[in-house]
Amino acid sequence: MRVVVITIASGLLCARAAAAQTGTSGTTTASPTSWRSIPTLPSDIDQGKKLLANLENPNAKDAQKLCPGYTATNVRNSPGGLSARLVLAGANCNVYGTDIDQLDLRVLFGPKSRLNVRILPVEIAGEQESWYDIKEDYLTRTVNGVHFNPTDSELDFQFNRSPFEFSVARKSTGDVLFSTKGSKLVFENQFLEFRTELPEKYNLYGLGEVMHNIRLGNKYNRTLYATDVSDPLDENLYGSHPFYYEHRYAKLEDGSKKGYAHGVYLRNLHGQDILLRKKSLTWRTIGGMVDLTFYSGPTPADVIADHVKTVGLPAMQQYWTLGFHQCRWGYSNVSDLEGVVEAYRDFGIPLETIWSDIDYMDQYRDWTNDPVTYDLNAFSAFLNKIHADGQHYVPIFDAAIYVPNPNNASDAYPYYDAGLAADAYLKNPDGSLYVGAVWPGFTVFPDWSAPGTQAWWTDSFQKWHKEVEYDGIWLDMNEVSSFCVGSCGSSNIAQNPVHPPFSLPGEPGNLVLDYPEGFNNTNATEAVSAAAAIEARQSANAAVEPSPTVALFVSQVTQGVDARAINYPPYVINHVQDGHDLAVHAVSPNATHSDGSLEYDVHSLWGHLETKATYESLLKVSPGKRPFIISRSSAPGTGAWAGHWGGDNASKWLYMALSIPQALSFSMFGIPMFGVDTCGFHGNTDMELCARWMQLSAFFPFYRNHNVLAAISQEAYRWAAVADSSRTAMAIRYTLLPYMYTLFHHAHTTGATVMRALSWEFPNDESLVEIDRQFMLGPAIMVAPVLDQGANYTNATFPGGENEKWYDWYTHEARSGSEGKLVDLKAPLGHIPVFIRGGNILALQHPAYTTAESRKNPWDILVALDSEGDAYGDLYLDDGESLIQEKTTFITLEATNSHLNVSRKGQWTSSEPLSSVIILGVSKKPRRITLGQAQLDKWSWGEKAQILKMTGLEGATEGGVWSKEWELSWK
Ligand code: GLC
Repeated sequence: MRVVVITIASGLLCARAAAAQTGTSGTTTASPTSWRSIPTLPSDIDQGKKLLANLENPNAKDAQKLCPGYTATNVRNSPGGLSARLVLAGANCNVYGTDIDQLDLRVLFGPKSRLNVRILPVEIAGEQESWYDIKEDYLTRTVNGVHFNPTDSELDFQFNRSPFEFSVARKSTGDVLFSTKGSKLVFENQFLEFRTELPEKYNLYGLGEVMHNIRLGNKYNRTLYATDVSDPLDENLYGSHPFYYEHRYAKLEDGSKKGYAHGVYLRNLHGQDILLRKKSLTWRTIGGMVDLTFYSGPTPADVIADHVKTVGLPAMQQYWTLGFHQCRWGYSNVSDLEGVVEAYRDFGIPLETIWSDIDYMDQYRDWTNDPVTYDLNAFSAFLNKIHADGQHYVPIFDAAIYVPNPNNASDAYPYYDAGLAADAYLKNPDGSLYVGAVWPGFTVFPDWSAPGTQAWWTDSFQKWHKEVEYDGIWLDMNEVSSFCVGSCGSSNIAQNPVHPPFSLPGEPGNLVLDYPEGFNNTNATEAVSAAAAIEARQSANAAVEPSPTVALFVSQVTQGVDARAINYPPYVINHVQDGHDLAVHAVSPNATHSDGSLEYDVHSLWGHLETKATYESLLKVSPGKRPFIISRSSAPGTGAWAGHWGGDNASKWLYMALSIPQALSFSMFGIPMFGVDTCGFHGNTDMELCARWMQLSAFFPFYRNHNVLAAISQEAYRWAAVADSSRTAMAIRYTLLPYMYTLFHHAHTTGATVMRALSWEFPNDESLVEIDRQFMLGPAIMVAPVLDQGANYTNATFPGGENEKWYDWYTHEARSGSEGKLVDLKAPLGHIPVFIRGGNILALQHPAYTTAESRKNPWDILVALDSEGDAYGDLYLDDGESLIQEKTTFITLEATNSHLNVSRKGQWTSSEPLSSVIILGVSKKPRRITLGQAQLDKWSWGEKAQILKMTGLEGATEGGVWSKEWELSWK
């Protein structure tokens, strides 16, 4: 055991004390004299070794030049595919680890659109387990080809024996989709490398989680490794999704283009770099195996659905979760929450759910409430009230579990004791507890492989729910984050350093002074004082006296039992944290799990497994109800249990714009319940940005406003213009709730996406490859937001040509496709351009304050005819919350030949009537309109607008518009 002497600084403000000083007005009011002195971790405790990332090292060894590659022998057809032995084709190169001499190649086909290529060491168990195969109950396998005949596949697998190279082609076109030709396979115990050729100017999407435009560049690197970091651009973030799809456009004989997409998923969650180059993609991981799945598409929507079905279909959400959510860090007591809920109602802005950040906890300990500021009696009364009003409550829950001070009897924390008794925590290689540090001070971390963890986890959530009736759980810090390198608390539990090694927003030297781009134009006076404050802060920070320190012994416990270089692997991925060190701001790679695995091998699965465990727990907390979970870390398949938010963005126009590609990438990764911190997390927002953002997020599946501690408040009612914009956009959102819910039903049952890129809906249109400043919500709605400060117009492309019809949401005015051109659209503050694609029918419900009230309102049907006079829509109905539904109904709406046919399947009934039917694109005045047998006389038609409107239909649809099948005709 290596013992390192470090010092701990004391003297900074307690996080809780800081939070208490931040009222809902959001301004820090207390003077520095009220700050209390508490033990604080020193800032260098989270610093890494300064490593040179392989990608920044011009002298890095090139495995392609140094390694021998493999030769295939012993090739055999096997059920559903083929197998071979791969033998190292020369002397070991041991370039970033130890070469594996013999590998198994296993190729499996099936179903038609999927092919799996696995390459793994022949020796699975041995003295030195040099690789890690992800357990099937952690990440599902993609192909089970035993009964599938490879000749029926859309995909073809070809390989060359010596040197071993392989390719995958689309049978119908002969197009080679993936080819390792001209490159070597490198397979070492801590390094894998393979390369595929790509066509020039390829269109490639996915490979997250990273902040970037939707289309990835052709000279570009991506790193994947789950980490806690505030949304820097082009760096690895909270989740790991090694999946991409590529979109190619073939020229047909008549000169038109046809799009073909295929997907590639690497089932390997080790730290990895992906190198996108002019005509190739190189994949490098620091462990695991080659486990590639190819999806044949041929459209992006097909590829994505296939991938999503493979990793796990997304959870069906409860209806209420689609309402609007308000959150912030800094609601310091129950009255703050009450005030926010009341103010939303007073301003007539719908609020479905109020959230709590860590402010509610007792000293940041999970499953507790601060006895003073979140007193349980007052809190229960508050929760009873909002529940009675049809509203909801979701608290944050942090990944790390506080370790109480053993020398202080009043520091008891029974939830920790129960976890210890269940042997549920990660260990050091020497078997001692791994003790890191997060918000509460020294902490331990659940081990998802330990047999006792789930029961303890569930029991803790059940106990807590008896005190606080939460409606969902927000999982944070689960990358899994730790604020110190190594097991820094091992020898120091009694020191209680309850302040993190960095200053919190609002603390001295860290006041929140930043504003959105262009703030100096819109708020000149305030901008001048903010600039002066920033300058003053800089000189004040320079003059800060070092804090008093306490000497501590900290065991870093870095040695391991594994023969690999676990904490400092020879290949250094371009990890975003200090010095590219994997141990920085996270549990170290050498933390050990009860099943013998090391954090090194399963790190990026921690949040995924926590989400799964929490899902199981919530099923016990509220039996029969669909759990609602939003998780920060994610992996392929997390969508089966949870949604995700985009993490710690900033109140900047850039971040608002990037929220669209962020959301689209999570559509690709099977996590449709996605949204970002609306109005921005870090920094102060301003009226204009917040007004635009509240409108944009209204069209995202998960709609939440969230803000950092000590920034100015940004609830939708803080500015009149933001309130107006929010009300307008929310009215549209709530009108569309039945449509959004139906989209979720499709996502849950088929892997279809909710938020969509234009190129997914128009897969043959090459002009759309980079479009990510506008998007589609399902097949029917297109949103073209303003994303630039000061703009009162935007421009948008309208996919399709002359025959495509797009209708303005507000005026119902029709326009044709713009043939790849951008069209200017007027969009003054308060207006978000929204369009309906011709050919769709929307079942709309009158909006109300809550989703529960909206569900009781009358319906409207909006038929947006295409240029042939046809349209289609559907509607899924159920009780909105049960995991297993006793009764559901699926409604199909079809319009053709001046006739609307409504058919239904299923037993779910509801009694709301129909209020109106509006049909867009009716070119001739009808002579007679009939609903069933009855002739309608309350209708109007305009020659110029070509809109047919039938109102006052309540009487004719009494007892429920969806309770029977019916027809409407206008001839
Ligand atoms: C993390 C979360 C953020 C939260 C903060 C305090 O930074 O990402 O949303 O407000 O922790 O809990």
